[in-house]
Amino acid sequence: MIPPRATFPEGFVFGAATAAYQIEGSRFGGAGPSHWDTFAATPGNVVRAEDGATACDHYHRWAEDLDLIRDAGFDAYRFSTSWARVMPDGVKINPQGIDFYDRLVDGMVARGLRPFLTLYHWDLPAALADLGGWRNRDTCARFADYAEAVMARLGDRVKTTATINEPWCVAWLSHFIGAHAPGLRDIRAAARAMHHILVAHGMAVERLRGLGHRNLGIVLNFDHATPASDSAADRQAAAVQDAIFNRWFIEAIAHRRYPAEALAGLEPHLPANWQDDMALIGQKLDWLGVNYYTRHIHAAAPGTPWPATREVTGPLPKTQMGWEIYPEGLEGFLTRLARDHTGDLPLYVTENGMALAGGTDDPDRIEFIAAHFAACQRAMAAGAPLRGFFYWSLLDNYEWAEGYDKRFGLVHVDFDTLARRPKASYQAIKRALARN
Ligand code: NOJ
Repeated sequence: MIPPRATFPEGFVFGAATAAYQIEGSRFGGAGPSHWDTFAATPGNVVRAEDGATACDHYHRWAEDLDLIRDAGFDAYRFSTSWARVMPDGVKINPQGIDFYDRLVDGMVARGLRPFLTLYHWDLPAALADLGGWRNRDTCARFADYAEAVMARLGDRVKTTATINEPWCVAWLSHFIGAHAPGLRDIRAAARAMHHILVAHGMAVERLRGLGHRNLGIVLNFDHATPASDSAADRQAAAVQDAIFNRWFIEAIAHRRYPAEALAGLEPHLPANWQDDMALIGQKLDWLGVNYYTRHIHAAAPGTPWPATREVTGPLPKTQMGWEIYPEGLEGFLTRLARDHTGDLPLYVTENGMALAGGTDDPDRIEFIAAHFAACQRAMAAGAPLRGFFYWSLLDNYEWAEGYDKRFGLVHVDFDTLARRPKASYQAIKRALARN
């Protein structure tokens, strides 16, 4: 059973999460192309070359979707604004685009839902990608301009704002592993993106704070790095991956440093004088978002270039993504973050969920949610200042390079008719969140 609301502290925030490109439909409303539209257009990048052109048609069905969030008993909605919708060329405002978010936020307020905004959930305008995207430092200043424009319009109602979603995915997954747009496999590009995405965060925070906006944060993803064996080499492999994935961003933000295990490979490729940016990156934040899904098992790969590691398949039950179900990792990160990095800074689980094939009968998802709620409660009992939990995702949606068949939703979407049907997990959450 999903632990009910009454077993959480008073005021704990329960929400559902989505992201613009994954649900809205990028062809509607005068949006410009983003680098996800262009990435998906090249065969081989995305399963069946699917893209977000229509997605869940949330652009037209947003009122129904907000009703679903309210009716489940959620307190908050984590959504993102699309840079390419607000600024089709990356610079100039599309009034139709910003008007859409204005209506959307009004819709949340009218339903008693607290808006949690993410400014960048990966839809970089293609025009800026053409200029080098996150390899180009100019993109950081453009991002601060975009953040200012969005908050100028929404900031009177949006009181909780994150700059960037999952910088590891923006930088490493997209420029070193090559799995996400722009699909590069280039260590120099990756190093630049690892740094510039944090510079963009810092510039936006500085700009927004200067304009009087408050309650600013960032959303980082964490993935438990387990060594494949007790050997020194495998433990070192896990330590390197832990540094790249779980330490690079938070240590820059919380301590103004990069971990040595990651610098060992990346420093030769960082921009000159990167050290001068660390104060900008390491500004005070008001909250931290934690996205958590799984763990990975790492082994040494001797004789291969840095980081000289390989992944090993683990023994635990897996989701439709092939990700092991490992709630202990969530508990571990929440307590580790508070202990080693963030102290009493409020933490929110901004994403957690599972992909599961099929229709509305999803008992495995209910069990998954129950186990991760319990992990949150153990972390809080151990002192982690966790203030809320957002389930990923409200709807089945565009799972990036995996296309549409990886289903994360509490609500089933038929991608032929776009009809929404709440799953059993939606009803289970609704029961857990009901106030008696
Ligand atoms: C993280 C991302 O923020 C989100 O866009 C994605 O769909 C989920 N994880 C699941 O992979």
